[in-house]
Formats: sequence, C-alpha cells, structure tokens
Amino acid sequence: MYFIGIDLGTSSVKLLMMDENGKTVNIVSRDYPLYFPKPGWSEQDPRDWYRETITGLKELTEGFNKDEVRGISFGGQMHGLVVLDENDEVIRNAILWNDGRTTKECDYLNNVIGKDKLSEYTANIAFAGFTAPKILWMKENEPELFAKIKKIMLPKDYLAYKLTGVFATDVSDASGMLLFDVKNRTWSEEMINICGIKREMLADIYESYDKIGCLKPEIAAEVGFKPETVVAAGAGDNAAAAVGTGTVGDNRCNISLGTSGTIFISSKNFSVDSFNSLHSFAHADGYYHLMGCMLSAASCQKWWLEEIMKTDNYRGEQESIDNEKLGDNHVFFLPYLMGERSPINDPLARATFTGMTMDTTRSDMFQAVMEGVTFALRDSFEVAKKLGIDIKKTKVCGGGARSAVWKRMLANILNVEVEIVETEQGPSYGGAILAAVACGVFKDVVEAADKLVKIVDVVEPEKELVAKYEKRYNEFRQIYPALKNFFADLAK
Ligand code: XUL
Repeated sequence: MYFIGIDLGTSSVKLLMMDENGKTVNIVSRDYPLYFPKPGWSEQDPRDWYRETITGLKELTEGFNKDEVRGISFGGQMHGLVVLDENDEVIRNAILWNDGRTTKECDYLNNVIGKDKLSEYTANIAFAGFTAPKILWMKENEPELFAKIKKIMLPKDYLAYKLTGVFATDVSDASGMLLFDVKNRTWSEEMINICGIKREMLADIYESYDKIGCLKPEIAAEVGFKPETVVAAGAGDNAAAAVGTGTVGDNRCNISLGTSGTIFISSKNFSVDSFNSLHSFAHADGYYHLMGCMLSAASCQKWWLEEIMKTDNYRGEQESIDNEKLGDNHVFFLPYLMGERSPINDPLARATFTGMTMDTTRSDMFQAVMEGVTFALRDSFEVAKKLGIDIKKTKVCGGGARSAVWKRMLANILNVEVEIVETEQGPSYGGAILAAVACGVFKDVVEAADKLVKIVDVVEPEKELVAKYEKRYNEFRQIYPALKNFFADLAK
C-alpha cells in the first residue's frame, strides 16, 4: 500500500510517497513561479499549483504499481487567499501568506474592531498574511473582482477541490484565516459579518485526518490511480510538518526552516498567547498548537546565495563557514526581507546587515544570514518561555534542516537538544501519514506519528558556545528597535 503526501510550498510542490510502514519510496519536486508585483506583495497562480501537482503525481508513481496508491493528503502553504467565481474559475492570483499589503486592514481589525474581540472570536489577532485582512483588501481595492467571489479557499483546498470536487478545508489551515473559531473548531459568524462575506463562500470543515472524498474519475484516469483512492483533508504545512516529525500530543516542539521559519508547540489543551505574538491554532492531531512564524528563513539563505552571490552551491558555501568562528561573528543580519510576523508583527520591517569591517569575508556574511534567522526564531522562542512553556528539545525540518552548521546554530542559540528525524520532508511526510490515518491504517494521528517517525540523531547544545551566542543574541536584539522608525519612514 502507498500513501502520498503533497506539500504545496511557496517555491515548489513536493510530493512524497511512503508505504504502510512509513518508508519513503519516492520524492519529486516541481517548481512554479512566485510573483512580487510590488515591494512586500507576494502572489502565485493557483493553476500553476494544480498543473505541477498533476505532473508530479505522474512522475512520483512512475514505475510503481499505481493500484497500490490508497490515499492522498496535503500539507499546504497557509493563509493564501484563493477566490473562485460562479464557474469555479480563479478570479485573481492567490495572495500569499508572506504578502504584506494589508497594513491598513490589519489596523482596522486590530484597532477598530479590537484585538480583544478578534481574540474572543478567533483566538488570534490580525497579521498581514492572514486571510481575512486580504478579503477586506480586495473588497476595498478590487470591488469588481470582489463582487464575483463565490468561493474563498486556502491553497491546498484548491488542489483538493480540483482533485475531488469537494469544497473542504481542515481545522489547522482554517485556523489561519482569522475567520475561524479555533477553540470550538467552527467558522466565526462574527468574522464572516465583519468581512462582508457569506457562510456559503467558505468550505465545510473537517479534521485533517478525515476522508473528504475520492479522486474524480477523470483525474484518477489521468494519473492512473484507482478512482476509489481516498483524499484526506490534510493540514496547513506547519501542522502537517509537525505530524511528519512526530510533534503531536502534548508539549512537543518542531522548528521548520523552510521559506518561512516556524516554531510549533503541540498541546492537548487550547490556549491563547496573552502577548498576541504566537498564533493559537487547531492541530492536525485533533488537538491544538501555538506557533510563531517568521516570514523569511531558508529563503534568506536562498536570496543571499542565489540572488546576491549567484551560486547554487549551498553545501560548499556552508562548508566555508569556519566552525571556530561560531559565536564570534561580529556581523549581524536582520532577516526581514518580507517584513516580519512573529513576534514583532511589522510588515514594514526590512532586512539589513550591520557590523562589517574591512576584514569581513563572504563567509562571515553568510554565517550572519543563518545566525540572523536563528536569532529571530529565538525571539518567538522567548515569547513561549514567557508563557511558561518549557522547551528542552525540538525536532527540525525543512530545507534548512539539511545543513549541519544550521542545526548546530539552532541547538546553541536556543540552548535546546535538536532531534533529527529520518526525513526532513516534514509537510509531505505528515500529509502521507494523514492519508494513512484516513484509510484506517492507524487508530489516530498520534499513534501513527509515534510508530512511524524515527529519531536518527541528536545535536546537543555546547556550554561554551551557548554562552557566546547568548551574548550575540543580546546584541542582535538591539538592532530592530534601533531601526523600527527608520523602516516606517522608508515605507512612506
Ligand atoms: C504560517 C505561515 C507559513 C506558511 C508557509 O503561519 O504563514 O509558515 O504556511 O508555507
């Protein structure tokens, strides 16, 4: 039996196929374009996602017995606004999770409606990337297009809709729309009214491990699978990644170093961050989680190496970092290439280097990029600590998790044990696990993750390096407050 997890990411769709024992038998990845129509804006064409997913499904299963594919599910980039008209045609490009155009709408939601009310209705406040502010933006800026909206959906739900014809979403992804009453796992009537939309524009809600339907016969024929292939609701990519790294049940932690950087804390109980910095969302295991999300993590590495240094030799550049220099770099990088969400919630923040001297090298700059991302993750980690959450160890996934030096930085900047799991493909592996649960192979998600996810190594914090990084982190923390007003002026 095979189960497929589709990770609908920002730079590519990654598809993973595993057998019923959790062994990964194949992985493929298909890229699509990402558009930045204005500084801080970020869009994609949902039709690109669908086309590349279908091609990816064919590639993934080539040479395998396709009749053995029993279930498919997803981990999808969260918060994106996908809008369809009465003919189920895409009305405009999707506005993505890292798009910062909704400053005005967030001000209205947080300050006129009020953070207390938002928190009461949804357990969260407005952040620029969330879906509800984007709906308000469309209403104000594209009224003709807004008037055509018949369906509002999240990125992976668009794929599920195209594959099955079922208009569905899951609790973890719905949590990031600011339209969802997270505690009670249902749509918020109040938020629907505030956004001026109708309930029927929103999908039916499922748990992430629920079957929503089967492949449409014509799709099954196209990809060569049986028409009874089960499609499960799936999860937002972070919840799916948490499943894929065994971050389920109570008080476990996962860090994702993907395009975004997230720190994800699972919990059996619902709770809200009183500082409004961490998101309070439903989890794909049937429970809840808290999450801090930074908008540019491994994407800072990609930007630095590919756009600026014009190289794709990631490994070579990482190996050029002198291990002796860890903790001693006097160059700092603020990683706010797309503004920032957690914990500073400032779409106008920007990236910057500082501290260079004549002896600064290329590898010092690169080291600063990786360290800057890790310091910024620690900012969210500190919020979790203030809430009384004690994190001694974490899993790690995402492209950045392939880098030995980055894992060492994580262990020492956060002062935690970093547990390495067999595959760093968090969302797609988690998606495949959700599909297996939907097919009845496991009793529930916790049982499945505990049985399938294997820890293969641990990176321990080193006392001396922790102390050095503590000093550097305290220096790093001074940079953003010093520049905050400058960034705001820059945006005028
Ligand atoms: C989470 C978030 C990002 C995206 C990345 O809140 O916005 O992690 O899900 O795909």
